[in-house]
Amino acid sequence: MSSRHHKSFLKQFVSQPNSVGAIAPSSTLLCQEIVNAIDWSTAQAVVEYGPGTGVVTQQILKAKRDETNFCAIELNTHFAEILKQRFTSVSIHVDSVANVKDVCEHEGIEQVDAVISGLPWASFKDEDQNEYLDAMMSVLKPGGHFVTFAYLQGLLLPAGKRFRHKLDHYFTDIGKSRIIWRNLPPAFVYRCRR
Ligand SMILES: C[S@@+](CC[C@H](N)C(=O)[O-])C[C@H]1O[C@@H](n2cnc3c(N)ncnc32)[C@H](O)[C@@H]1O
Repeated sequence: MSSRHHKSFLKQFVSQPNSVGAIAPSSTLLCQEIVNAIDWSTAQAVVEYGPGTGVVTQQILKAKRDETNFCAIELNTHFAEILKQRFTSVSIHVDSVANVKDVCEHEGIEQVDAVISGLPWASFKDEDQNEYLDAMMSVLKPGGHFVTFAYLQGLLLPAGKRFRHKLDHYFTDIGKSRIIWRNLPPAFVYRCRR
């Protein structure tokens, strides 16, 4: 990840703090923890939410099989331009994850095995959390996985606590990874199964 991408990330955070939700892209260790939560030997369709400058995307491309149908949804047009230049083989949708069903239809995907999310859930309003989770349920297959990360400090925020409670409502199994201290800020991964 170039320092140009770091600067760009910080700039986008300053202009849209709630939507970007972090001052720096995730560390390689955190990205690997996220991507290793998926069984790539069986995954047929995977969607990435909020790839930002593409640090998780890069690890996904290393892990996935050629046959796995993969696309990403990024709301921020500046990040989407970076992604399109970095990953010419990946279908990048400049859209909100609220529209994941339309995106999947466009990709010819009926059901998704896994959603890998970089969204800052602890910065979202209640209704946005609901809208994004409900939309995900319209495409995630029974037994499908949802992998996302949370910053430690986010657990203290009302929206972070609310999001944790919502996971119990939407998913049957919810696991947590070790804490990745070498991330700015320290974070952990939620591994959820529908
Ligand atoms: C914390 S950053 C994570 C970026 C990257 N995945 C990483 O780990 O470094 C959150 C990303 O989610 C994107 N985002 C926020 N709301 C979104 C939405 N409703 N739909 C799609 N992307 C969204 C932001 O633009 C930003 O790129």
